[in-house]
Amino acid sequence: MTREAKASSASVLQLAADAADGVTLDEIDAIASAAFGLSQFSAREELRRPWTRCWVAREGQRALAFLIAWHVVDELHVLNIATCPTALRRGLATALMSRSLEYARQERVRLVLLEVRRSNRAAIGLYRKLGFTVTGVRPRYYSDNDEDAVEMALALDPETGAAQPGRDEVHIEL
Ligand SMILES: CC(C)(COP(=O)(O)OP(=O)(O)OC[C@H]1O[C@@H](n2cnc3c(N)ncnc32)[C@H](O)[C@@H]1OP(=O)(O)O)[C@@H](O)C(=O)NCCC(=O)NCCS
Repeated sequence: MTREAKASSASVLQLAADAADGVTLDEIDAIASAAFGLSQFSAREELRRPWTRCWVAREGQRALAFLIAWHVVDELHVLNIATCPTALRRGLATALMSRSLEYARQERVRLVLLEVRRSNRAAIGLYRKLGFTVTGVRPRYYSDNDEDAVEMALALDPETGAAQPGRDEVHIEL
């Protein structure tokens, strides 16, 4: 099966807080736990905030990947994106990011931003592929191992939704 065909067998949907079923929320927590080792992560808690937006990629009855972002005024801040370890490299994270960017365009968001660990080549590769550029580095941002955060952003034209071409403002060694 081709990579595109594998990704297209999954569907991406936005999860509304009032319509989120317990099984899906538990599945998201399990993916977070497997992907980040975050046993404290709670999709339920995340979705209680009115500004939280969540998308899930599922295949049949099973959730395989999720994305959580905060939409505040004209910014969309991607907080977490993770794919179940058994479904990596099938385009699921790309599909989730693309859907969240579609939402951003519809909502006339000007800036999509995120932080990522400097060592996270997979995620940095994903964001770069979608046009994000490096806007800064926050030294020792992650308290668990004092790792730097790389700040990345994608500017959108609020009228047309077109991605604004950008260049890295900071050079990062990978
Ligand atoms: C980062 C992550 C979400 C990518 O998920 P995915 O569903 O495998 O991603 P995709 O299949 O859509 O890959 C998209 C692109 O990301 C990059 N990428 C993904 N995995 C990669 C890897 N292991 N090594 C290098 N680049 C990688 C590539 O550019 C890839 O495009 P390509 O396959 O055409 O080369 C996944 O690795 C993950 O869940 N990691 C743990 C959690 C995490 O670190 N989240 C990000 C920080 S919040």
